[in-house]
Amino acid sequence: MRFWYRLVKFAFRCLYNEFAWAYDLVSRIVSRGRWHDWQRAALPELRGDRVLDVAFGTGDLLWDMVAKGYRCAGIDLSPHMAHITAKKFRRQEEEAPICRARAQELPFPDGIFDSLVATFPDHFILDPRAQHEMARVLVPGGRLGIVDSGHIVGDDPWSRFLNWAFMITVSPDAWEEARRSFAHPLFAIERRVILDEGSAVDVVVATKKQSPLRLEDPRDDRCKEVLYTMRDCRRIGRNGPG
Ligand SMILES: C[S@@+](CC[C@H](N)C(=O)[O-])C[C@H]1O[C@@H](n2cnc3c(N)ncnc32)[C@H](O)[C@@H]1O
Repeated sequence: MRFWYRLVKFAFRCLYNEFAWAYDLVSRIVSRGRWHDWQRAALPELRGDRVLDVAFGTGDLLWDMVAKGYRCAGIDLSPHMAHITAKKFRRQEEEAPICRARAQELPFPDGIFDSLVATFPDHFILDPRAQHEMARVLVPGGRLGIVDSGHIVGDDPWSRFLNWAFMITVSPDAWEEARRSFAHPLFAIERRVILDEGSAVDVVVATKKQSPLRLEDPRDDRCKEVLYTMRDCRRIGRNGPG
C-alpha cells in the first residue's frame, strides 16, 4: 500500500511540474467542471485587501482577486505553474504578481498581509514551518482561508467513480492528519461546509490570534459548521473587497 501512495505522490508531483500543462483539464474533469467555483469558496473569508495566494497553481483564483481589486501576491514552488500563470496574466495584459517560493520560507516581511488563501494545498499545509510562516506574514487578526477539499454529491456512475478515485489517491493516514488539520497555536480554527447542487466544499478558516502571548493558551479549535452557498461565493467574487 505504501508503494501505491508513493506512486500517487509522484504522479501529483509530475502534475504540478512537467505535466502542469494538463492541470486545468484534470482539475476540471475530477470536479465535473466545478474546480474554479470550489476555489472561490475562499473568497468570503478574505478580510482587508492585501492577499497572498499560497500555492497559486495555474492562477485562476489569483486572477479573480486581482481583477476584483485586491492587492495580491502569489507564491508557488513549481516553475511550471508560475509559467502558466504568468501566461494567463499576459493574455489579460497584466503582469502576474507572483514569485517562486516555498510556503515554508515566505519571502515577505512580518505582518504585511490581511488575508491568505490556500486552495487544495499540498502536504505543506500541515508542515508546522509553513504554518509558522503563514502566521508570520499575516497581521494579527488576519485570516487564512484554506479550501481543503471538494466532493461531488451524486449517485450516478461517473460521480461514484470520481469519489472512488479520490478515496484511493488519499492515504488514510494523510486523510486523518488533514482532518485533525491545522494545529498551530497562533491560529484559531473554524470549519465551514459550502453546499451547492451536486457538490460540497470544506473550508478551514484559521484566524491569527491577536497577541503572541496567547501562544501559551490551550489550543483554541472551535469547530463550527456554517453553511452557505456557492452562489454567495460567486457574488463575493464579483464584488471584490468589501
Ligand atoms: C493541488 S495544487 C493547488 C493549486 C491551486 N491552489 C488550485 O487551487 O488549483 C498544489 C500546488 O502546491 C504547490 N506546492 C507544493 N508544495 C509547495 C510548497 N512547499 N510551497 C509552495 N507551493 C507548493 C504545487 O506546485 C501546486 O501548484
